[in-house]
Amino acid sequence: MIQRQKGCHDIYGREAKVWKFVESVIDALMEKYHYNYIRTPLFEASELFHRGVGETTDIVTKESYDFVDKGGRNITLRPEGTAGVVRSFIENKMYGDPSQPVKVYYNGTMYRYERPQSGRDRELTQFGVEILGSDDPLSDAEVISLAVNLYKMLGLKEIKVNLNSLGDKESRMAYREALIDYFKPHIDEFCEDCKVRLEKNPLRILDCKVDADNPLLKNAPKTLDYLNEESRDRFEKVQEYLDIMQISYEINPSIVRGLDYYNHTVFEIEAKVEGFGSNNVLGAGGRYNGLVDQLDGPETPCVGFATGIGRLVMALELEQVKLPIVEDIDLFLMYVNEEEKKYAAYLAQELRMAGFIVETEYTGRGLKGQFKQADRYHAKFTCVLNSEDLNNNEVKIKNNKTKQEDLINLDVIIYYLDEMIHSMEDDEDCCECGCHQEGEHECHCKKEEE
Ligand code: HAM
Repeated sequence: MIQRQKGCHDIYGREAKVWKFVESVIDALMEKYHYNYIRTPLFEASELFHRGVGETTDIVTKESYDFVDKGGRNITLRPEGTAGVVRSFIENKMYGDPSQPVKVYYNGTMYRYERPQSGRDRELTQFGVEILGSDDPLSDAEVISLAVNLYKMLGLKEIKVNLNSLGDKESRMAYREALIDYFKPHIDEFCEDCKVRLEKNPLRILDCKVDADNPLLKNAPKTLDYLNEESRDRFEKVQEYLDIMQISYEINPSIVRGLDYYNHTVFEIEAKVEGFGSNNVLGAGGRYNGLVDQLDGPETPCVGFATGIGRLVMALELEQVKLPIVEDIDLFLMYVNEEEKKYAAYLAQELRMAGFIVETEYTGRGLKGQFKQADRYHAKFTCVLNSEDLNNNEVKIKNNKTKQEDLINLDVIIYYLDEMIHSMEDDEDCCECGCHQEGEHECHCKKEEE
C-alpha cells in the first residue's frame, strides 16, 4: 500500500468541514479589512528564498524542498508566502498603483523539510496577509488586531500576543555587535552551525533548535536595549494603537523570529491551550521594510503575518470550540423502482436549486437500508417516493424527529420544506420566544408583550 509522505495530512470528513468553515471566516474577515486575495505559484526560483528569507536561516539551509527542473533551473517549493508576494509585487509593478498601500491575503500550502511532530508538518497550509507600501505604525497594529480578531471570531479564548521590536538598521547593527561580544567567549559550547552564525548572522543563534536549552541564550542581550530613539518611538506608537484597539499583548524581548527579513515590529501569537505541546505558536509576523529593495524593487515598507491553518484547527479542537458546522441534511429521497428513481433525480435537482440539502440513494439499497442511510446523514426529513402518490402529484414527507408524516402537493413542496425547516430552527433557539440571546437571560420579547 502506498502511504502518504511524512509530515503530510489527508484532510477529510468532519475535519475538512472545520477547515472549510475556518476558511469561510477568513474570507469574510478579509472583506471587512479590505484585503484582496492573491495567488502566487507554489514553486519559485530558489534564489528568491535564498535572498528573501535568508541564506543562514533554517528554512533555507535545512528545510527547503529544492530540485532542478528539466530545463536545468534551480527551483524551490515555497516554504512561506511573503517572498512570493513580494516578487509578485515587484514583477507586476504593483508599487505603481496609485491606491497604495497594497493589501493582500493568501491561503495556500507551503513546504518545509522539518522533523514531523504534532503541529509541525512538511506540508502546511498558511493564511497570511501583507500590507505593502505603508510605514505607518497603524498598519503594524492593524495586522496584529486582524490576527487576534480572527482567533476570537473563531471562538478561541486562550491566546497571547508576544510583541517585540528589532528596530531599524542602525539599532539592528548595534544589537548584532552586542550579540557577537556576548557569544564570542563561549562559542565553543555551541553547535557547528552557530559557530558559523556568530559572524554571519548572530541573531540566528537565538533561535537555534540544537542549542535551545543553553542557559546563555536566556541571558543574551535583548533587542529593546539597543533600539535608537526613532525605533523606540515607533514601537511605542504601535503599542498605543493596539491599546486604542483594545488588543492585549505582552512585550516579550526574546521574540526575534526565524526569518531574516524582519525589522521593527515582530510578534508571535500563542495558543494557551492544554495539550498543544511546544508548537503552540498559532501565527506570527512583523515588519520587513528592506525586503522589496533587497529583491530589486523600489524601497517599500511592508508588514504582514501568517497563521498555520492546521495549528488553528488543532487549537479549536483542543479548546472544544463549538462551531456551526452543518452535519445534517434537509431531506433524504427514497425510492424502490426505476420510475420513482427518475423522479428522485428530478426532485433532488429542483430542491437543491431551491437551496435545500438533499440526498438520495446511489448504491442500490432496499428501503430498509435507505432509512438507515438517512439516519447516518441525520436527515431532518425523509420522503419515500411511490408511484401512486406521484400520479396524484403528491409525496409523503416525514419529520424524522417527531415522526409526523404529511401528504404534500408537489406544487407547494418548496414552501412546505421552507416553513418546516424554519420552525425547526426556531425551536432550537435559546428561549421559547426566539429572541436569540444566549445563556440565561431576561427575555425582551416577553417583556414587550407584557
Ligand atoms: P512563520 O513563523 O515561519 O512565518 O510561520 C507562520 C505560521 O505558520 C506559524 O506561526 C505556524 O502557525 C505555521 N507554521 C510554520 N511552520 C509550520 C510547520 N512546519 N507546520 C505547521 N505549521 C507551521 C512566516 O511564514 C512568515 N511568512 C509570516 C509573515 C508574513 N511575516 C510577514 N508576513
